[in-house]
Amino acid sequence: MIHKWIHYFDIYERLFEKFIGKEINILEIGVSHGGSLQMWKEYFGDKATIFGLDIDPLCKSFEEEQINIIIGDQGDRGFWKTIKPTLPKFDIIIDDGGHHMSQLKTTFQEMFPELSSHGVYFIEDLHTCYWEEYGGGLGKPDNFIEYSKK
Ligand SMILES: C[S@@+](CC[C@H](N)C(=O)[O-])C[C@H]1O[C@@H](n2cnc3c(N)ncnc32)[C@H](O)[C@@H]1O
Repeated sequence: MIHKWIHYFDIYERLFEKFIGKEINILEIGVSHGGSLQMWKEYFGDKATIFGLDIDPLCKSFEEEQINIIIGDQGDRGFWKTIKPTLPKFDIIIDDGGHHMSQLKTTFQEMFPELSSHGVYFIEDLHTCYWEEYGGGLGKPDNFIEYSKK
């Protein structure tokens, strides 16, 4: 099962096509039912190494050949500091986790430096930047859209 808006697929294809068949490392934050990790495996081929990260320990069950599952909280800097030395540089990072402003920023600040020079950092569902319950709000200086402009 995959939990993605249909209009992301054309954009993904445009940005990710160059990685098909290559020896790449991908990190997707937010595993849910594991379907999108299966999709990356199928799309990028057998040289791709895929990492999924989720706060829900049940997601560990989606681990299989080429797919590694890490359990942890993307909003916790201490967690990133512990896990980063065990991880490779990534060609693709997709943040589709909790979508809260503090999580988006912590993850970006910790993981953008871990992207390879030709890499792509992709964040889904940025409409939460305009949702107060996610720490966002129109024109609010620390919503992730405003933050990323700086
Ligand atoms: C929208 S679902 C992910 C969907 C999946 N990427 C897909 O395309 O099928 C969001 C996931 O983020 C996880 N999540 C929520 N808060 C998190 C956090 N603080 N750290 C890590 N994962 C989190 C949830 O457990 C949930 O599985």
